[in-house]
Amino acid sequence: MKPYRPAPDPHPVRAKFATARRELSAALIERDDEVDLVLAALVAGEHVLLVGPPGCAKSLLLDALLAWTGGTKFATLLTKFTTPEEVLGPVSLAGLKSDRFVRVTTGKLPEAEFCFLDEVFKASSAILNTLLRVLNERTFDPGDGAVRRVPLRLCVAASNEWPEAGPDLGALFDRFVVRKTVAPIRSRAGRARLLWGPGTVPELSGTITPAEVDAARGAAAALPWSGAAKEALEAVLGDLVRDGVRPGDRRQFRTVGVVRAFAFLCGAERVEPEHLEVARHCLWDDPHEHPERVTRVIAKVANPPGLRVAQLLLEAEGVLGATDARDLAAAATGAAKLGEIERQLGALPGTGRVEAARAYLRDQLRQLKLASIGAV
Ligand SMILES: Nc1ncnc2c1ncn2[C@@H]1O[C@H](COP(=O)(O)OP(=O)(O)OP(=O)(O)O)[C@@H](O)[C@H]1O
Ligand SMILES: [Mg+2]
Repeated sequence: MKPYRPAPDPHPVRAKFATARRELSAALIERDDEVDLVLAALVAGEHVLLVGPPGCAKSLLLDALLAWTGGTKFATLLTKFTTPEEVLGPVSLAGLKSDRFVRVTTGKLPEAEFCFLDEVFKASSAILNTLLRVLNERTFDPGDGAVRRVPLRLCVAASNEWPEAGPDLGALFDRFVVRKTVAPIRSRAGRARLLWGPGTVPELSGTITPAEVDAARGAAAALPWSGAAKEALEAVLGDLVRDGVRPGDRRQFRTVGVVRAFAFLCGAERVEPEHLEVARHCLWDDPHEHPERVTRVIAKVANPPGLRVAQLLLEAEGVLGATDARDLAAAATGAAKLGEIERQLGALPGTGRVEAARAYLRDQLRQLKLASIGAV
């Protein structure tokens, strides 16, 4: 009998994304969702914004992503004092001598295929309008009135806080179809790894070229949606309206592309309801309440296993935090609850994330038992 060999992936570039996904997730603590999200955004060509308190690895992840991509890049930390010259390029002196105002854009945002804008909402109004156009229309006028297309594939951005409501920053905020809150490390095991681990910077094997990103984008854009996935998205949108959440038409349309990109990254040949998991980072406008509502609706309509794993892990952290291992009765109750959560995880389709979560729970269960034996 011939040994079994899996059929080669019809999309060779997908293997590169799978490796990057694995390496980034392994290097960063509790950042699996963010890793999936930035890679899906890269494939979909939608800009991505991460918002979270200082020091929660936003830059660590986004820098690693930009180091992985080849091509031209531009990264900057925006402050209210950042000048248009720093982002868009200085005005050409030769041009001025002949009465022309043109920017020299070499090495600046208008020539970048990938960019990282840190503290993006600090951009001054002098930069804002051009930025809006570069991000949305992907065009730039260096000053001579001849509007050019920019080569930008992806803009990643980070901020410590959500922008204040208002037309200026609101328009910039809306340019980011993919947006996520990054929370500090939750689990005790994660914290122990942060404190006592080697503290490595993610180093990805290999790089990806802009042409490969385009190839991935083309392959993802060709993925069909199953009837069930289409129905599920329509049901999610219907439920959201009833819940008072009305993402704009452009946002809805672009979400379809992000979900396709996520399905592609997951190795699927068509979009299924489970891939709607990623839409919870796209289908809302008000960062202060809508993300939770959207997550609830998507969990109810599509019940994606990725979301279920996150919910069960959160429940487990709650149990671990509330259990005093020195109290034998409490430890026994805690262990029973953890065992039940582990059983529920076991009933989900066996993805890498489910297996990692089960291994984590078994480890926590073992430690809880050891601690309570030690206390006797
Ligand atoms: N989840 C994590 N995994 C691995 N390392 C982490 C994690 N969270 C924090 N760190 C450590 O903390 C450092 C700070 O992270 P980083 O500079 O990326 O934070 P940030 O979110 O960009 O903060 P700021 O908002 O201040 O720019 C990292 O370089 C890393 O050493
Ligand atoms: Mg940072």
